[in-house]
Amino acid sequence: MHNLTLIKGDGIGPEISDSVLKIIKASGVEINWDIQTAGADVINQEGVPLPKRVTESVKKNKIALKSPVTTPIGKGFRSVNVQLRKELDLYANLRPCYNLPGVKTRYENVDIVVVRENTEDLYAGIERQVDENTAESIKRITREASLRIAEFAFNYAIKNNRKLVHAVTKANICKLSDGLFLNCAREIAQKYPQIEFKEILVDNCCMQLVQNPNQFDVLLLPNLYGDIVSDLCAGLIGGLGVAQGANIGNEYAVFEPVHGSAPDIAGQNKANPTAMLMSAIEMLNHIGEKNAAERIKNALFKTLESGIKTADLGGTATCSDFTEAIISCL
Ligand code: NAI
Repeated sequence: MHNLTLIKGDGIGPEISDSVLKIIKASGVEINWDIQTAGADVINQEGVPLPKRVTESVKKNKIALKSPVTTPIGKGFRSVNVQLRKELDLYANLRPCYNLPGVKTRYENVDIVVVRENTEDLYAGIERQVDENTAESIKRITREASLRIAEFAFNYAIKNNRKLVHAVTKANICKLSDGLFLNCAREIAQKYPQIEFKEILVDNCCMQLVQNPNQFDVLLLPNLYGDIVSDLCAGLIGGLGVAQGANIGNEYAVFEPVHGSAPDIAGQNKANPTAMLMSAIEMLNHIGEKNAAERIKNALFKTLESGIKTADLGGTATCSDFTEAIISCL
């Protein structure tokens, strides 16, 4: 029996969480879920979107599965996601991105892993209002964080039989901050001569990804570029509904899809649970349930191949139809 935390989130979070919990249960893996809520609805009852109980639960169980949480634009609360990653020191955001069977896209054989630094950069939200007409955001990059994410990327490449790491920056313009990130990547690259290392500017990288994604293998990026480029990569393989992710630190790991809370389709039984399920499959691998992970993945792939798909992939299945189809395949 595994003790794990489930952070239910808001928007489509509850729908896709319920779907994934049902599928995991049907696979026979025994999990004692500590279900924690976070986000906008929690503020009304507890005053904050990320109550202490949530991080304490993850600290106790070490591993969590998380569905998305809304972050209001402009005013409102600080991002639950950023806060969680910071408090648990989940410094690596890992987003493997590959074509799924039965999901037709413009590209074939895409197989890219985005490794995004998860704790600093403009994403840290260090901002100030200089005066009524001027605002500033600080882009903070440190040597320590850049070295450890570069080490993570190369280490991941070795362990997963990857051949090439691209450091993606704008070091020609942000000479000091991105320059430091790039220098750290260069330094770590020297320790891994068996992995090819290339440098590319983020604007060119986006263009190349759209023209020929097959030239890329592992992408190593600072936080904000990593956020944007991983959504671009999701678009290459069928969209946000299928893009998985994980936030990994030395002590804890939180598995979550790349997408957000999709307020436009929330509560309508339209959400695609695939991204959340793929994240859960990686979580099962992480906790040693490799057999169940493989069986669930096969059931998911068979379902997609059979043409049962949610609306984002051009199908007509609801979230619950799709869930039931996967369970029947299991
Ligand atoms: P989003 O990812 O929620 O949605 C973008 C588009 O993709 C929408 O049209 C949505 O319907 C579609 N989509 C996303 N996931 C889908 C799924 N599973 N099935 C079918 N369609 C799906 O991005 P958006 O609208 O920019 O953000 C909404 C909220 O989510 C914001 O408050 C944002 O801050 C938050 N967010 C939270 C994240 C997290 O909790 N890790 C990550 C990204 C955004």
